[in-house]
Amino acid sequence: MSVLEHEAQRLSQMEHEIRQIKEQIENVGNATDLGSYDEELAKLETNNMKLKHRLSILNKAIEKERGNSSTSNKLNSITEMISITEHLYDLFESAIKSAYPDLTNPPVIITPVSANTPKFGDYQCNSAMPIAQLLKTKGLKSNPREVAQNIMNHLGHSVLVSKSEIAGAGFINVFLEKSYGVMAINELLRNEITPPSCKKQRVLVDFSSPNIAKQMHVGHLRSTIIGESICRLLEFLGHDVIRVNHVGDWGTQFGMLIAHLEDRFPNFTNEVPPISDLQEFYKESKKRFDEDEDFKKRAYSSVVKLQSGEKNSKKAWTLICDVSRKEFQKIYDALDVTIKEFGESFYQSRMESIVKFLEKEGYLEEDEGRKIMWGNPETRDGIPLTIIKSDGGFTYDTSDMAAIKYRLEEEKADWIIYVTDSGQSTHFKIIFECAERAKILDYKKHRVDHVGFGVVLGEDGKKFKTRSGETVKLSDLLNEGLKRSLDKLIEKERDKVLTPEELKAAQESVAYGCIKYADLSHNRINEYVFSFDKMLEDRGNTAVYLLYAFTRIRSIARNCGEDFTNLKKIMETESISVEHEKEWKLVKTLLKFPDVISKITKDLFLHHLCEYVFEISTTFTEFYDVCYCIEKNKEGKIIKVNRSRILLCEATALVLGKCFDILGLKPVAKI
Ligand code: ARG
Repeated sequence: MSVLEHEAQRLSQMEHEIRQIKEQIENVGNATDLGSYDEELAKLETNNMKLKHRLSILNKAIEKERGNSSTSNKLNSITEMISITEHLYDLFESAIKSAYPDLTNPPVIITPVSANTPKFGDYQCNSAMPIAQLLKTKGLKSNPREVAQNIMNHLGHSVLVSKSEIAGAGFINVFLEKSYGVMAINELLRNEITPPSCKKQRVLVDFSSPNIAKQMHVGHLRSTIIGESICRLLEFLGHDVIRVNHVGDWGTQFGMLIAHLEDRFPNFTNEVPPISDLQEFYKESKKRFDEDEDFKKRAYSSVVKLQSGEKNSKKAWTLICDVSRKEFQKIYDALDVTIKEFGESFYQSRMESIVKFLEKEGYLEEDEGRKIMWGNPETRDGIPLTIIKSDGGFTYDTSDMAAIKYRLEEEKADWIIYVTDSGQSTHFKIIFECAERAKILDYKKHRVDHVGFGVVLGEDGKKFKTRSGETVKLSDLLNEGLKRSLDKLIEKERDKVLTPEELKAAQESVAYGCIKYADLSHNRINEYVFSFDKMLEDRGNTAVYLLYAFTRIRSIARNCGEDFTNLKKIMETESISVEHEKEWKLVKTLLKFPDVISKITKDLFLHHLCEYVFEISTTFTEFYDVCYCIEKNKEGKIIKVNRSRILLCEATALVLGKCFDILGLKPVAKI
């Protein structure tokens, strides 16, 4: 034990004794009300305060001593980019807790500072103001600057921090340590991007989920794009992800479809019916259903037959589902989406058993012939679930109750994410409430999220429709994207430079990239205006701009006359050095990657990642404008290559590439 530690131990022992004496005095005082002890108590209290002050100074000195002796060890032991915000959170949390041991859950607020105001540091701890307020409510006088100073007195050492200083009303500005930044980027170049460490979980993502025989519309497109990105994010983090397509393939509409199929294609059991437009087929059968009483009766009996597993009805149903399935698959292939179908029909037997279970446990109530379930039977807030309709049939609610039970209990999911339009948020709120009430969902073990999103609007600000007012077919939409992106490439005369294969790859990358990015870069809660003109702009935060920027960054190393392909090998002898202010700014931007990943994993708002990607490319441009990577003479011959800067370009490409991957953007070598 060092001398300092010894002294600290002695002082805290003394402090402990004083506390005991104080307690004794108080006890005697309470019992006999002897005023003469008051003076003694006041003296002891002053003494105690002085001791506390000395103790805190000593503790700080010890912390420093420990930190200094092992700084180099710590520096070497951090081998990956870590979330700086989380690291600073831990650092300041322990400082605040030891500065104010009597406060329960003191606020720890860490925010990144805009890179455009470097004098305020890189991160800020803004806890002093609320803590001063808290102390005030407890009758303790203090001001935020004093609090900030007290936090600083208790702040431990960190290899990530070069200095911290108090500013303004009590902000603590934190400046990052360059040597850490350099080390983390070197490590990134050596080992590519490693995900921030986290507890591995089994996550079920329910997304896309169109309805059979109905049009897959732009709402489903949003769900598909957002859901796919969430899966990619979680897979990058190492979670065990189950991608589920909860297609609407069950329910009364199948009765009329089957009855209509039997009439139109009586030979359907032997020959696959040539239905090319299921939409039309649906419309025809709906018309008959509404107008023809006889047909209606047959439709109802077809549903009963289907649900009881009758062979021919099942066959008809499979044929109809297959037509839709093929259409859906075309969209998934184009957008590079992987998903497995577990439609509503999958839960037929489980719906029967959950109904029995809910009935037996007394959760169901009669309501005008229906059986309903309240999330909270006491308050009866909101609306209840309809578990059985008055005609005895099951509903969307029934299938979601069966699904949540199956997913948590049989699939053993730790976390379920539902991606649908915000219009369904009440539905999921009640499903979660009822599942918790029925002891299926336990928030101590499980996490459930409804990832809602706003509606897609046309450029006229109205609901997205074709000119004639019909729902837009997704395949038409994707084709138009392809056409527009080709026009754009031809406008830029890229067809003269690229081979036909390269041109096609660029066309698809731009078309699908811009549709996905336009969706993901908006806050998903808001409605968004679908505009090909906007998404195909090559300026601003668009896929086109980013894809070009990425290709340009990649080409710097490719065209410098040296071979930078095997980074691992190069990094055995090379490392980056950071001198120019713009180099340091770029490094600090790249270091934010784990912070952004951790943020979007918490809130599942992917637009933060898009904002980050845009920030990287603008910061890169600032760097590239003033920091020469390659110097050429008048004849255009390369005379000098700045290897460190080329490596910085490659590090930028690695981070950008990973972000693109999560967002589903596919960069191409030439564009
Ligand atoms: N098929 C539904 C729709 O088109 C979406 C299903 C979402 N998932 C679920 N488990 N309810 O609106």
